[in-house]
Amino acid sequence: MSDEDADAGAGVDAGDRDAGGTRNEGNGSDSSDAASDEFNSVVATVRDRVDPDEDERERLRAVADRLTTRAEEAATELCDDADVIQVGSTARGTWISGDRDIDVFVRFPLELDRETLESHGLEVGHTTLPDGHEEYAEHPYVKGTVEGFDVDVVPCFRLESATEIRSAVDRTPFHTEYLRQRLDDELAADVRVTKQFLKGIGAYGSDLRTRGFSGYLTELLVCEYGGFRPLLEAAADWQPPVELDPEDHGRETFADPLIVIDPTDPDRNVAAVCSPENVARLQHYARAFLEEPALEYVEPADPKPLPKTELREHLERRQTTPVAIRFDAPDLVEDQLYPQLQKSLDGITQGLDDRGFDVFRAAAFADETAVVFVELAVAERPAVERHDGPPVHVQDHAEGFYNAYADDPDAYGPFIDGDRYVTEREREFTSAREFLESQRLFDVGLGAHVQTALESDYEVLVGDEITVLLEEFGRELRTYFEPRP
Ligand code: UTP
Ligand code: MN
Repeated sequence: MSDEDADAGAGVDAGDRDAGGTRNEGNGSDSSDAASDEFNSVVATVRDRVDPDEDERERLRAVADRLTTRAEEAATELCDDADVIQVGSTARGTWISGDRDIDVFVRFPLELDRETLESHGLEVGHTTLPDGHEEYAEHPYVKGTVEGFDVDVVPCFRLESATEIRSAVDRTPFHTEYLRQRLDDELAADVRVTKQFLKGIGAYGSDLRTRGFSGYLTELLVCEYGGFRPLLEAAADWQPPVELDPEDHGRETFADPLIVIDPTDPDRNVAAVCSPENVARLQHYARAFLEEPALEYVEPADPKPLPKTELREHLERRQTTPVAIRFDAPDLVEDQLYPQLQKSLDGITQGLDDRGFDVFRAAAFADETAVVFVELAVAERPAVERHDGPPVHVQDHAEGFYNAYADDPDAYGPFIDGDRYVTEREREFTSAREFLESQRLFDVGLGAHVQTALESDYEVLVGDEITVLLEEFGRELRTYFEPRP
């Protein structure tokens, strides 16, 4: 099994390097020949960069085989029935040159209890990677570096079908098996080009910071549409929700903009974490690239920090009021940190909006410190606020409201406007800063670790004070003030 997987990874041979252009003809595109030539020539350049050469494939295969053998010996010593397989893009020939992680999965029989699986898994991991360290995903595994390759040794259960999984990693071997049967060298080459394109537009990766296209999703899309170009042509015309069901499982429905029913597990949408923004982003850049193929699209943006003068020009021109809450970034892995920052951002912008401070746009940044950055259209409000009561004819409620405010010396009214009682009361916060510096900030929905960090200390910056953020977040601020699709 493991040998077959390793061979699949090495199956892309150098001979197909020059085939990138010819195949795209006659796939239903109505572009002119010249546009087609341009497309093919840009794709050929991308392939030159992303296709691993014979030497890289050779070295990868050697290291992967050695690790697989080592892991097999260690695993079968602990459990007769264990086996070892390679998974992920390096097992399928779909990795991008230079960007290679070897995933070694150690499969144990289902009879094993989870605790034993974990301890066996770690033991095999440490034997296979003597310099490795433990990391924790759904269960612990060992990670290390061997001759420049990042290696994960991950234990999982061996199942008959991916629908019986105990944890997400149990599904992974089924993905590899499924794609191995469908990917030929040409499709694998198109997967690599598609991955690079998605990286270039900032939509590659299923981590919870990016919320984009995972490697597996990319491979399924390329297989389904039959290549990079047909995928772009389809995406350019998508009308979300878009549903693909490669194996015609056809039962579950999902509320996501892109639905790709996992061929190995009908209950799962492979594109579940892909955000609406990233689906729209692929559509935008698919159209742009088909219209005018250019290498710039496949090169990830690398913004230069925004200088202070330019930041001030933006603020002057926009006449908005930026506010920021800055605190020590909670010590969490990115997949925990970013959802918590997003939740806190949503809570804080809601808290501001509810109090009459209109939010124009907002973003969260994190490095050593973390920042919830909010640009306000309205940052100051008058001392009084209007408070509408019930219609006078709704007697019970109306009398209750009237009596509650009739003797309140701090309220104007009650008076009647239309058919309702109205009072004007003193507003709790007349500036966004006051609210952000108050305990009421803790009434909004915050991520748990963000809340703890804020309880210990935070700083509120308003207007020109936000220029101190440039030192740590100059690039993020350029991206914010120079937004692109
Ligand atoms: P990787 O994140 O390494 O993806 O996960 P990849 O397919 O090898 O792509 P690149 O080239 O490294 O970017 C390895 C395998 O783990 C499973 C998939 O089967 C994937 O191929 N996996 C990973 C998931 O099922 N879900 C995930 O969110 C991530
Ligand atoms: Mn990988």
